[in-house]
Parts: sequence; structure tokens; C-alpha cells
Amino acid sequence: MLRVFAAVALVLVQAGISGCGSEAAKPDAAPSKPDAAPSLPGDWDHDIQLPEARDESADPAVVELSLVAKPERVLLDGEREVELWTYNGVSPGPLIRVPLGARLRVHFKNELPEPTTIHWHGLEVPAAMDGADPEHSAVAPGETFEYEFVPPHAGTYWYHPHMNSAEQVWRGLYGALIVEDPEEPELGLEAVIVMHDISFEGDRPTENHDSLHAFFGRQGEHLLVNGRVLPSLRVPAGTALRLRLINAAVSRYYRLGLAGHTLTRVAGDSGFLEAPEASDDVLLVPGERAEVVVVPQGEPDTRLTVEALPYERFACEGCEKAEPLLHIDIVPGQGEAPEIPARLASIPAIGLTGARERSLVFMESQRGTDVALGLNGQLYPEDPLEFHAKVGDTEIWTLENDTDYDHPFHLHGFRFQVLSLEGSGRLLDEWKDTLNLPARGRLRVAMRFDDRPGMWMLHCHILDHAELGMMGMLHVSP
Ligand code: C2O
Ligand code: CU
Repeated sequence: MLRVFAAVALVLVQAGISGCGSEAAKPDAAPSKPDAAPSLPGDWDHDIQLPEARDESADPAVVELSLVAKPERVLLDGEREVELWTYNGVSPGPLIRVPLGARLRVHFKNELPEPTTIHWHGLEVPAAMDGADPEHSAVAPGETFEYEFVPPHAGTYWYHPHMNSAEQVWRGLYGALIVEDPEEPELGLEAVIVMHDISFEGDRPTENHDSLHAFFGRQGEHLLVNGRVLPSLRVPAGTALRLRLINAAVSRYYRLGLAGHTLTRVAGDSGFLEAPEASDDVLLVPGERAEVVVVPQGEPDTRLTVEALPYERFACEGCEKAEPLLHIDIVPGQGEAPEIPARLASIPAIGLTGARERSLVFMESQRGTDVALGLNGQLYPEDPLEFHAKVGDTEIWTLENDTDYDHPFHLHGFRFQVLSLEGSGRLLDEWKDTLNLPARGRLRVAMRFDDRPGMWMLHCHILDHAELGMMGMLHVSP
């Protein structure tokens, strides 16, 4: 609704119909031209629109919907027929929008030939709803499960399976989930951008079974934005776009840039930063989210290109060159760009008195003669790392990367803050749940376990690495 309202308001302002703009209020403002037609094309985001999940509940405080995981033959870019694993027949799965404070109820059915789950990445839900416990949360083929929770924080999130996850996400199981706060300032036209990559052998996603491929982390030759290869947005110059970016790739790091433009990051994994942050590019590691505001400039008929810029996470194929991701076509007219507030949120620092210190080392290992990856010398699932804590505890974890390549650290259940290496000052003024740990790097994070006891996973979000053993468990007891 906000999006529709923003679009309508923009059209009205541009057509000179609105009387509340400062321009229109000036007594001697130039009369609007008779041909000042609405300049925002009604189909400005047609290429990337995600089907939205249908809310089956009449109660405004409840969003109720059905998701079915199933194989489906789909047309890749309207051309090539391929078989993906989908939610409700589409990949990405339906876009889920939940107003802040509302309850989400999802009737889930597994019509895949193997067990699966839905994990709500980044949402602080009860452990039984987290879809990550291999023993208790698996949904067998033909079975159903009801997920139900109230997402506690506004922001950009996503959902994906947590069983055989490298394979299942690779084949197309991932979707966006937005928790909307109606009080948020207007920042621009909103677009949800879900990034993924995939390769095919014939009409099936490439199978990837050997440990060496997993060690490098599979990357696909097709870079997808909302399931499409190189789609376009169509807006007049000067239109502020609020892009809700989600990296749903199995292994690929996306460093995004738009030549000649500033990207203003306003939100991270879980809601607004304290203050907007302008830069030339934004890095998203697998699982990570960011919201950026960008104001495209150029003459009508200019085609701008959002690119995936080189990022050396490892000796990965093709990551040394920029690749086009998304076009922005400038159409005639003058867009609107609301001013971004200098202060977006206030994020109280986690109190660290009495915090327990732990260290978490990301390292290479071996499984028989195969290469493996572990945490603190332990391998999931045969000999998993297990941390034990209690509700109410505060902890500081020192993350250490003992390898020559990056790993995106992800913790389930609890958002954390990133601390400076020495001392207890904050390094980032934002909430995180997924954080890049650079090659040979060291980072400190702090978290507090609120009253949601249970088992929570922690792992590298290069899903291939998680399956090579780089995964552990945090047990929070009542
Ligand atoms: Cu995005 Cu353990 O997951
Ligand atoms: Cu890793």
C-alpha cells in the first residue's frame, strides 16, 4: 500500500494536481504545462515485480498464507524451459509483506521428493519456528507444517530451506519477506531486489556433489535479479529509488555499484542504520541484506546499469570482472527525491557488563581424504561445535578466520552488534545477523539472549561451506 501510495503521490505531484508541494504553493509558480503527463510509467518496475503471497486472513493483525515447495517447469526469461524447485510454482517464492506487529501464519506443504524446512533468515522467532533443527523441524515429502510467529523488527528479510540447503537454495527455493513499519519516513519508490545465481545442465540446475566444488563454493553463470537475467526499471531522472537488496545466492558475493552515482545505505540486515551512509558501492555477502537509496541521473533514453563489481572472496571463476545486473532506463520527466533524514534510528548499545567471552575460529579440516571446513576444530554434523548459554546472558564472540578466503558468519535467532577489536566501542551502528569475516580477519560481535530458549544454528552462509562442516549449535536454556 505504501508503495502504491508513493507512486500515486508522485504522479499527482508531477502532474501538478497536488496543492501541497512547495512548488505549487508559490503564488507565482509557472503554470503547469497542459502536456505535463504523469512521467512515471505505470509499468516502471514491471520486469522485476515479484508475485505477492495472498493474505487469506480478514483480520488485519494476521497475515495468513500458504506455501507449497514443489518442482516446477518454468520459463527462464520467457525463453528457456527449465525445472526449478519453487515455492508456489515461482522462484523467487512469493513476496511476503507483514505489517510490524502483525502475526504471520504460513501453511506449508512439502511436495518435493526430499525433506525440507523453511528458515526465516534474520527474524527473531521462537526456536520451534526457526526451521533449522535437523531432528525436529524436518518436513517430510507430502507432509505439512504450520509456521506462526510475530516478526519483532521492521526490515528486509528472506526465507529459504535449512536441509540440504546448498542444493535446495541453488535449485530455486528462496523468497523475500518484508516487515513494514508504517511510521517509516518516505525514502523513494521501493523495489525489492533478490539476487541469486544458477547454471544449468540441459533443463536442470547443475548438480554439484564433490567436496572440491563445495570448497570453492558454487557460483552460477546466470546472475538473476528476481529470477530474471538483466531486467530493467524505467524512471524519470531524479527519482529516488529505495532498493531492498537481498543476497540469496549460495556462494556469490555481490558488490554493487552504479557508475557515476552515490549509493546511500539506509538499512542493513534488520532495519535502519542510525545514520545514512553514502558510498560508491555496497557489498552483500550470501544471506546479507542492505537497503540503499539511489537517485538515477541522465537524459531521457539513457540506459544506466547496476553492476556486480569484482570482489575477490576466493579464486572464483569470473569474479575478477564486472557483470551487469539491472538496467535503469531514464524516461522523460522529473522525478521526486524525498530528503533522507540525517538520523534514521536510535540503536541502543548492548550492555556488556558481565558478558561471557567466546572465540569462534573458522578453519580448514579434513573428512577422510576429503577437504572439509570446520569451527574451532569441530565438524558438523558428526562432531559439531556446541555452545551453551542461558536466557538473559550477554556474550561477546571473537570471530577469527584462519583461512585465506572470506566466510559470511550467520547466527540464528539473535541479532548482534559489531564491536571494535580492542575495547567495547561499537564498530557499526546497526543490527546484523550476517557478517563478512574477511580472509585471515578478526571481528568481535556482541549479543544478548532474550527469552527464546532452544537450539540455534550458527554457520558460514556460503551454504556449500556449511555443508562441508562449517556449522555449529548454540543451546540457550531457560
Ligand atoms: Cu540463511 Cu542458517 O541460514
Ligand atoms: Cu565459508
